[in-house]
Amino acid sequence: MTTLIINIKELLQVRDSSILKVSGAEMAILPSIKNAYLVLKNGLISDFGSMEDLPNINPEKCIDADGKIVLPSWCDSHTHIVYAGNREQEFVDRINGLTYEEIANRGGGILNSAKKLNETSEEEIYQQSKARLEEVMRLGTGAVEIKSGYGLTVAGELKMLRVIQRLAQNYPITIKATFLGAHAFPLEFKENHKGYIDLIVNEMLPEIAKNKLAHFIDAFCETGYFTVEETQQIMEAGIKFGLKPKIHVNQFNSIGGIQAGIKYNALSVDHLEVMKPEDIKALENTDTMPVALPSCSYFLSIPYTPAREMIAAGLPLALATDYNPGSTPSGNMNFVVATACIKMKMTPEEAINAATINGAYAMGISETNGSITIGKKANLIITKPIPSYYQIPYAFGSNLIETVLLEGEIFA
Ligand code: NIG
Ligand code: FE
Repeated sequence: MTTLIINIKELLQVRDSSILKVSGAEMAILPSIKNAYLVLKNGLISDFGSMEDLPNINPEKCIDADGKIVLPSWCDSHTHIVYAGNREQEFVDRINGLTYEEIANRGGGILNSAKKLNETSEEEIYQQSKARLEEVMRLGTGAVEIKSGYGLTVAGELKMLRVIQRLAQNYPITIKATFLGAHAFPLEFKENHKGYIDLIVNEMLPEIAKNKLAHFIDAFCETGYFTVEETQQIMEAGIKFGLKPKIHVNQFNSIGGIQAGIKYNALSVDHLEVMKPEDIKALENTDTMPVALPSCSYFLSIPYTPAREMIAAGLPLALATDYNPGSTPSGNMNFVVATACIKMKMTPEEAINAATINGAYAMGISETNGSITIGKKANLIITKPIPSYYQIPYAFGSNLIETVLLEGEIFA
């Protein structure tokens, strides 16, 4: 099946296949072609260029994108979209003055979602999760990482990972699965951390590896959750089972989690709302992608990742949603891009790079996703007619997406 898209007002994020991420000052550059065409063949990008050089081909389908912008789909490298129910009562409790931490200390938070998850059938969790996945696909996300971490029991974690696997089998979106058994200590292990870590290492991980249910290993390295030492044990165990680390660090406190992640060659370190100068320094000249989650900062009213300092230090930066029931009940990457511009002072070019090529890198797929490159997946956004791509962050509440293509086929 060949599709030809013509008269594209501007084709964004046109890259050579050698570019797998962009860092520092390079993030300000978003290579593009004005008045362009794009050819998709068998689900992949097969050709593109200026309309002046339009080849003479006979496509099965032709899309006229006059006045419209075309860009690669968003790559959302950090989500928890498989969960049961919601936590809207905690949202109201926070409005009435409780903090996220106080709610968690009362047995709410992650443990609240874990209780719901374990009480809900696998089929019901699949139905709820698929509705969220379809929603983010319509919002232009073409690749998504999904974590477990609301089971916190052998059965619950495996159930979540099977739901992620089923989503990956049934939808054309690229999905990567992360095992986050180390999300919180269940109540019965509150005083017995070793017991829960043994459960993760000796019972969950072997089963997950045997059934190929995850690509990555994650842990919530934070005061009151997993210490740096415990996080290191989890990463080490995951690596033994072939899972690369991608970890939650520096959300509320800077306790050395970034340095631990780098030591274990983590693919990404995520959250980073609280950054000391030595945390930024530690990331310099490493292969670890820092990932900011601005809609989490927005929803919890906590600091935003200091993007300007990090980019000035020459670091790359990726943007993701963190879609989850507690800290970010939203999977809208358009809002994330806008919030990064508005609140983190990223330029539109930096934010789009962070949400496409760098997001792809943060889930290990930048050889196949995240840019307009021959041979990469034809996962694309076609906007409505707009004056320029500045509209994407500028018109932050509007839906500017007209068409979503996944593997070359129109999804929405
Ligand atoms: O990334 N910070 C840890 N985990 C999730 C939120 C978990 C929850 O509140 O359910 C996050 O924000
Ligand atoms: Fe998260």
